[in-house]
Amino acid sequence: MISIEEYKDIKPFTTFGVPVTARYFSSISSIEALQQLIQHPIYQNNSRFILGGGSNVLFTSDYNGLVIQNLLKGITIRQESDTSIDIEVMAGENWHNLVMYCVQHNWGGIENLSLIPGTVGAAPIQNIGAYGVEVKEVIKSVTGIDLETGLFRTFLTHECAFEYRDSIFKSKLKENFFISSVTLTLTKKTHRINTSYGAINDVLKQQHITTPTIQHVSDAVIQIRSSKLPDPTKIGNAGSFFKNPTIPLAHYEQLQKSFPEIPGYHSVNQEVKVPAGWLIEQCGWKGKRIGDVGVHTQQALVLVNYAHGSGKEIFSLASNIISSVKEKFNIALICEVNIK
Ligand code: EPU
Repeated sequence: MISIEEYKDIKPFTTFGVPVTARYFSSISSIEALQQLIQHPIYQNNSRFILGGGSNVLFTSDYNGLVIQNLLKGITIRQESDTSIDIEVMAGENWHNLVMYCVQHNWGGIENLSLIPGTVGAAPIQNIGAYGVEVKEVIKSVTGIDLETGLFRTFLTHECAFEYRDSIFKSKLKENFFISSVTLTLTKKTHRINTSYGAINDVLKQQHITTPTIQHVSDAVIQIRSSKLPDPTKIGNAGSFFKNPTIPLAHYEQLQKSFPEIPGYHSVNQEVKVPAGWLIEQCGWKGKRIGDVGVHTQQALVLVNYAHGSGKEIFSLASNIISSVKEKFNIALICEVNIK
C-alpha cells in the first residue's frame, strides 16, 4: 500500500535545514510501492522530485509537486572470488554506513569516500568524489525504473556518462529515473590504497603509519573532513555548493600575472581546474555571515544555514558569490547543489 501525504514538512529530510513543504509526499520502501505510485493520478498530474538523503538539494520555495522519498534498503552479495566482491546495495541505504560496513568487512575501494552525507542512490547521480577517488571507479552498474515507461533498466558503468560531479542521471535522465540499487565491485585483498591526497599523507605521517590499511585511510578521511567541513546535523549545509571550475590554460596563465599564487590542477587537454574555495576566499567571502546564512569559516566552498536561514537567502548569497568571482576572475561558478 502506498501513502501520499499532503503539505508535508520536509525540512527534516534535507541537510540544509531550510523551511520547506512538499504539496505531496510519498515514502517508497519497496519496488511494488513505486510501481503502484506510478499508476496514481497524483503522480501522473504533478512534477516530481526524488529525495535521497537530501544532502545535495536547496529548496528556494515550497515544492508544488510530489516528493518521492527513496527508502529502499538491503545489501546483497552478487558475486565473489578470492580477490574481489560485487555487492548490490539498495538506493535508500546511508552512504557512510555502507562505507563503514565495507571497511569492517575489509572490502576496499570506497574508504576515501568516508563521511560523505547522503544515500547510496545519490552517489552515482553526482559521481561523488573526495580525496583522490570518485565513486565511478567502483560502480559496476546502476539499476532503477524509468519513470516514463515504468520499466526496469540497468546501466553498466560505461553507460552512465560519469564525469566530474556529473552523470546521465543528473543530465539526460534527471527526475526521470528512480535508482533502486547500485552494484559495486570492491577488493578483498591487494587493496588499491590511495593516499595521493596530501592531507591524508599528513595525517598518516603524524600517526607514524607507514603501511596504511583501508581502516587507516577511512579514519584519516574522517579526521580531515570533521576538521574542515561542518557537520550537517549541527550546522545546515550541503557540502560543496559549487563545482571546481575548469578554465582554458590561456585564461589561467593570464590570471597568474595578477594572482601569481592561484592554485590549479592541470589536465591533459590544455585546461586547468581551479579550486572554487580559493576563488571565493579571495573575494572576501570566507567566514562571512549575513543574517542566519553564511560561508563556512574553514572551507569557502561550503554555504551554511546557522539555524533559521531560508532557501532564498542561501540562493541570494550564492548569486552574490557568483557575481563577485565573475567580476574578479572572469570565471563563471556552477552550482554543484541541485537548486529547486
Ligand atoms: N581553498 C582555499 N580556501 C578555501 C578552501 C579551499 O584557498 O576556503 C583551496 C586551497 O588551495 C586548497 C584547495 O582549495 O588546497 C583544495 O581544497 P580542498 O582540499 O578543501 O578541496 P576542494 O577542491 O575545495 C573538493 C571537493 C570536496 C572534497 C575535497 C577533498 C568539489 C566541488 N569539492 O573540494 O567534495 O571533499 O575536494 O577531495 O570538488 C563535496 O562535493 O560536497 C565535497 C565536500
